[in-house]
Amino acid sequence: MNNKNLNTLNIFLEEDDLSNLNKFLVKNKFSKIFVLSDTNVLKHCYPVLIQKCPSLLIAEIIELEGSEENKNIETVTQTWEALIALGADKNSILINFGGGVISDLGGFVASTFKRGIPFINIPTSLMAMADASIGGKTGIDVGTIKNQVGTIIQPNGVFIYTPFLETLPQEHLKNGLAEIIKAGLIADKTLVKQLIEKKANFDQIILKSVIIKASIIIKDPHDKNVRKKLNFAHTIGHAVESTFLGTKKPLLHGEAVAIGIFVESIIAYNKKLITKSELNMVQSLIVPYFKMIKFNNKHFKLIQEFIEHDKKNSNKNVLMSLITGIGKCNFNIPVSSEEIEKAFTYYHSAIGK
Ligand SMILES: NC(=O)c1ccc[n+]([C@@H]2O[C@H](COP(=O)([O-])OP(=O)(O)OC[C@H]3O[C@@H](n4cnc5c(N)ncnc54)[C@H](O)[C@@H]3O)[C@@H](O)[C@H]2O)c1
Ligand SMILES: [Zn+2]
Repeated sequence: MNNKNLNTLNIFLEEDDLSNLNKFLVKNKFSKIFVLSDTNVLKHCYPVLIQKCPSLLIAEIIELEGSEENKNIETVTQTWEALIALGADKNSILINFGGGVISDLGGFVASTFKRGIPFINIPTSLMAMADASIGGKTGIDVGTIKNQVGTIIQPNGVFIYTPFLETLPQEHLKNGLAEIIKAGLIADKTLVKQLIEKKANFDQIILKSVIIKASIIIKDPHDKNVRKKLNFAHTIGHAVESTFLGTKKPLLHGEAVAIGIFVESIIAYNKKLITKSELNMVQSLIVPYFKMIKFNNKHFKLIQEFIEHDKKNSNKNVLMSLITGIGKCNFNIPVSSEEIEKAFTYYHSAIGK
C-alpha cells in the first residue's frame, strides 16, 4: 500500500498476516496491553487475532456490549474503571478491536484516560475498516444525540485485516457500503462506477475509501474546512438515526446515512447543484438496496429538532455539505427547513410510500 497519506497516518492494510501490527507491538515497548472489544468480536475474531499476533496473548481484555445504545458515558466510565483496576499507566496501550462503536468509544477513553494514552484501531466491521477507524474522531452519544462529546486525536496506528469480514453479518456489510458510496460520491467518480457495475471486491473498495478519507484528513485534521465534505449525508443521517435511537426499531448508522445520501442529494438537485440524471444515479444506488423508511409527522418533527443541533453559525439555516456532481462536494451550504421539507416530500414519492 504505497500511499503517502496512509503512511503519514500509520494506516496499514495487512495482507496474509498481521506483520505490521506485530512489528508495531515489538518496536514500542508498552508497559501493558489492553484490548477493548465486544462480545461478538471476541467470539468471532479474537481467536484469529491471537493466532496471527501471538504477542497479544498477554493482553488484558476489556469486554463491552457493543452497540450504539452503549456508546455513552456510562460505558466510558466502566472502561476507565476497568483500566484503573487492571493497573493501566501512561505507557499502556489500548487496542480498539471491533466496529465503529468500539473505535469511537475506545478512542475517547484512551484520549482522556490519564490525559491521553496511546491507542490503535483494529477494525472488524466494514463500516470501521472503510471509515470509522480512520481520522481520529472519537466520541459518544449524549442521550439520543449522536457524537455530542468527543475528541479529535489520531490513533497511533490503524491495522486493517479484511478476512475479519468473513463473520460480519450481511446487514452490517450493507451498513458499511453506505459510507463507501458516500466516499465515492464526494470524491471519486470511478469508485461510484465500480459500485454501480458491482465489479470491485471489498479489498479494493475499502482501500479507495480509506485513501479518500486519509487524503482529506491530512489536509484538515480538525474539521475546519475540507474535512466537512465527509459530513455529506450526515446532517440528515444523524437526525434520522437519533430519531430512532433508543426506540424498539433503532437504525444502523449506515442505514441512516443511506437515507441521508438520498435526501441530501435531492436537496442538492433542488438547488441545481446536481442534474436530474445524477440524482437518478444516486437513487439507483440507494433506494433498491437500503431500508427506506416512511416518516410520519411525529418523526419529521423530531428530525427537524435534531437538525437544529447541527446549526452552526447561521440562525435560520443549517449548513450542509452537499455533492455538486458525482465525485464532487462542497461544504458550508445554507439549507432552510423549507428546503429540507421539500426534499422529504420528493423522497416519499420516490420510495413509493
Ligand atoms: N469516528 C468516525 O469517523 C466514524 C465514522 C463512521 C461511523 N462512525 C461510528 O461507527 C459506529 C457504527 O459502527 P459499526 O457499524 O461498525 O457498528 P458496531 O461497532 O456496532 O458493529 C456492528 C456489529 O457487528 C458486530 N461485529 C463487528 N465486527 C464483526 C465481525 N468481524 N464478525 C462478526 N460480528 C462483528 C459488532 O459486535 C456489532 O454487533 C456509529 O456509532 C458511527 O457513529 C464513526
Ligand atoms: Zn458516518
